[in-house]
Amino acid sequence: MEGMTVRGRVAIVTGAGSGIGESIARLLAAEGTRVVINDVVSEKAERVAEEIRHEGGCAVPIPAGVSDKKAVAAMVDQVLSGFGRVDILVNNAGIAANRGLLKLQEAEWDLVLDVNLKGTFLCSQAVAAPMREQRYGRIVNIASRAWLGWYTQANYAASKGGVISLTRTLALELGKYQITANAVCPGMVETAMGRGQNPPEIMERLMKAQPMGRLGRPEEIAWAVLYFASDEARYTTGQTLFVCGGKSLFATPDLS
Ligand SMILES: NC(=O)c1ccc[n+]([C@@H]2O[C@H](COP(=O)([O-])OP(=O)(O)OC[C@H]3O[C@@H](n4cnc5c(N)ncnc54)[C@H](O)[C@@H]3O)[C@@H](O)[C@H]2O)c1
Repeated sequence: MEGMTVRGRVAIVTGAGSGIGESIARLLAAEGTRVVINDVVSEKAERVAEEIRHEGGCAVPIPAGVSDKKAVAAMVDQVLSGFGRVDILVNNAGIAANRGLLKLQEAEWDLVLDVNLKGTFLCSQAVAAPMREQRYGRIVNIASRAWLGWYTQANYAASKGGVISLTRTLALELGKYQITANAVCPGMVETAMGRGQNPPEIMERLMKAQPMGRLGRPEEIAWAVLYFASDEARYTTGQTLFVCGGKSLFATPDLS
């Protein structure tokens, strides 16, 4: 038995200039995938692509904001003209703007929904046509455990709940073309976003209140993504996998 096969495939990973997306891109590249490193910040995308190439992998940076329809179309066109196909899309780009419900600004709602939910829709729609032609595709959406609900995250939780519903609908509509769509829900992960949500003392309390008592590491999310992105996951679609150290198993009280 071989491991999960992604060798020779062409993948786009959005928001791959840091954190979880960077880890996913590095793992796919190490497994022989040709990886497009997307990020809204071009220097971040260029750094990650350069480091992957330095390690012998194949990576191309394509800066674009995922909530910008024209930029997304241009990115997918560039991928198709460069590689001739697109096999895997990982919708990882995401942001948070946390605030209690009564003070949450309309602009904060719009911004988070735009990147996390509309961005996932636009990128999925843009790859769906070439994937349909190929009769092959893997769409992996990075949602969050927070879609179950979380304090100060009305906008973020709703955006990720939307990502789950979108994933299920993509699976229904695209299944007949042998395109799968699945979602991974990370818990609290050791990244700029994961650490930036709370002051250190509250992070400590939150971590201790979880079954595994620690933050997740970005590569622990990447390994789950690798399964959904592989050839072997061909009959798994519309599913949501929590990779959250057990945090989804019960509701934590407000510790902040
Ligand atoms: N870190 C966590 O604890 C955690 C938990 C659950 C879910 N997630 C999700 O995982 C994903 C990655 O998060 P992370 O922790 O690695 O965050 P991060 O902030 O380290 O990385 C996110 C990357 O996305 C890029 N980005 C932001 N807006 C973009 C846009 N419009 N277009 C393209 N790229 C854009 C950023 O420049 C950054 O490089 C997000 O979808 C996030 O919601 C993270």
